[in-house]
This record gives sequence, structure tokens and C-alpha cells, in this order.
Amino acid sequence: MDQRKRVFSGIQPTGDAHLGNYLGVFQRWAQMVDEYECYYCIVDLHAITQDYTRDQLMQRVFDLTLSLIASGIDPEKCTLFVQSHVPQHTELTWLFNIAVGVGDLQRMTQFKEKSTGLESVNAGLLNYPVLQAADILLYRADFVPVGNDQRQHLELSRGIARKWNARFGDFFPEPETLTGAGSRVLGLDGVSKMSKSKDNTVPMLAGPEELWSRIRTAVTDPARVRKNDPGNPHVCNVFALHEFFTQSSVRADIEIRCQTANLGCVDCKQTLSDNVAEHLEPVREKVAELRAKPDQVLEILADGATRAREEAERTMSVVCERMGLGRKTLSEGIRKLTAQG
Ligand code: TYM
Repeated sequence: MDQRKRVFSGIQPTGDAHLGNYLGVFQRWAQMVDEYECYYCIVDLHAITQDYTRDQLMQRVFDLTLSLIASGIDPEKCTLFVQSHVPQHTELTWLFNIAVGVGDLQRMTQFKEKSTGLESVNAGLLNYPVLQAADILLYRADFVPVGNDQRQHLELSRGIARKWNARFGDFFPEPETLTGAGSRVLGLDGVSKMSKSKDNTVPMLAGPEELWSRIRTAVTDPARVRKNDPGNPHVCNVFALHEFFTQSSVRADIEIRCQTANLGCVDCKQTLSDNVAEHLEPVREKVAELRAKPDQVLEILADGATRAREEAERTMSVVCERMGLGRKTLSEGIRKLTAQG
């Protein structure tokens, strides 16, 4: 039995992974596998709450698996799997529906954002955070590393754990949210978080040319209109991104030259673009290598699902027993009740 604290986190296969995902999630996930017992999940059941096609979804699940492994997440040191391969996620979601109010779900910021302007809102979008709570609590995780945007969902997961424990007896730990550097990477607009839905992303697997065509368009210090105006690096998202990809001595130099109008934004972006390309080159190569071995990748996911299912079954047997559900609970329960007369 692994004595380490347990970590669970998930990511949706909803499009090309971007620098926000890479800095906010992939790098941290990769670092955590030695210290914690980690479960990392590609949450395809969450992704289907938005428009998709069958082939596109499968391709995205596969591509995301490649990006995760290529970013250094070692599948031998963690359990990497796809959510729909472990049916207990859906089962526990249904059971948790009785531990959360519809009003609480309607108040979720992400629900409001995703449902605004839609003619009809599917119930999956509303129940999205219940499935997320089931993901985490199924593995009785202690810690959940996520970006800042997930804090509210995590608070709801804790509430569900509390309510369930109060009614059926203490069982689920209240998971702690872990955020850190890279928890809110801004997009190229410099104001909102980098997000697939905002078209403000830098795709992490883009080649040097595509990187430059994206990074070129990044908004910098809005007060700096002409090249000869001094800039303020501390309000500039390009400078914020240098933090992750550029050596500190070079960064210090950029800072001073920007403040003294000795470095133009285009040159500053070019340096960033070159450094991002160089940093991610080995990841791109590894993705290409893995893409040529689909069977090996699918085997990794199959192994992950097998391990995850074992743990999920352990949780579900306790949950069903406490809630009076399932065949085993029923036969034992009826035998006992009959004996008591
Ligand atoms: P998703 O796919 O939208 O995001 C996956 C993770 O990436 C983080 N993230 C960012 N971090 C920093 N800067 C950004 N610009 C940025 N954009 C995205 C998100 O915070 C998230 O950590 N609902 C989850 C998926 C999920 C999950 C879970 C997470 C389902 N079940 C259980 C943790 C535990 C989500 O937003 O996925």
C-alpha cells in the first residue's frame, strides 16, 4: 500500500493544448509524481458537454496523451488514464447529485460563462462540477493541482464531501486545492486567461513559424504606443511569459531596456518566441516519436485504467454499502433484517 499523499487532477481533451496548460498543469503534474501517488485523468466525459464529433474526440484524447507524456509525465510513476474507461466516475456522479443543490450549480462561474448565449443548455453543463467532484473523491485524493479558474469547482467538491460524510458517515477527505506559479497564464490579449474558447492561445506544439505568428500579435504594455516610449514590463504579459522561458540575466536586461526605451516590443517578442520554440523542441520531438507507436500509447492508457478501476471499485463498495445500494449490500442487508425479524 502506497503511504504517500494522493493527488488527482484532470484535463479536458477539447483542442490543442496551449502554454497555459503546459505551464499551469503539465509541468507541475510531471514534478509531483515522485512525491505523491498521482492519478492523472483525461476527462472525455467532461469534454462531451460541449460540441464535438466522435472522431475528433478520439483524436484529441490520443493527442493529449502524447502531449502529457512528452511533457515529462512518466506513466510508470503515476496512473494516467481516460475518464470514460472507468465507469465508476459516472456512477458516483449520480450518487453525488443528491449532495448538491441545483442553485449551487447554477451559481458556478464557469456554468454561467459556458451557458450564456446558448439557446438551450444541456444538463451535462450544469452537472459538470458534480462529475469533477466524483473524479476527485473516487480516489479520495488529498490534493488537486489546478489553475486558479478551478478554485470554485474545488470548493464545491469539498462541500459535496462534507454533505455526504455528514449523512452517510465520515469517508471522503476534503481535497485541498494546489495552485502555484503558472496558475493563471494570460492569453495573447494580455487580459483574460489563456483559453481555447477565447482564441488567445499559443499552442504548445506549434513550430517556430507558427509560434512567431501567434506571439507577434501579443498585446504588451498598452501605454507604450511608440518604440521610443519607455515601457512597464510589470503590466506586460510578454514579459510575464519570459519568466518561464528566459534566463534570469536576460530577463533583467530586457526589463531595463524596456523601461529605458532601448528595446522595442517586436524584438522582445522575437526573443520570447525563439525561447519558447527552443524549450518545447524536445517535447515536439517526443510527441512525433510517440505518435509513431500508437499501440504503446494505448497500452499505457489501458494499464492506467486497470489500476484506476481497482481503486474506484474499493471506493464504490464502501459508498454502496453506506447508501444501501448494490446487490451485495441488498443480500447482506435483507439477511440481517430478516434475522432481526
Ligand atoms: P481544462 O481542460 O479546462 O483545464 C485543465 C487545467 O488547465 C488549467 N488551465 C490553466 N492554468 C493556467 N493558466 C491558464 N490559462 C489555464 N487554462 C487552463 C485549468 O485550471 C485546469 O487545471 N474542470 C477541469 C478538468 C477536470 C478536473 C477534474 C480538474 C475535470 N475533473 C478533477 C481537477 C480535478 C478543467 O478546467 O479542465
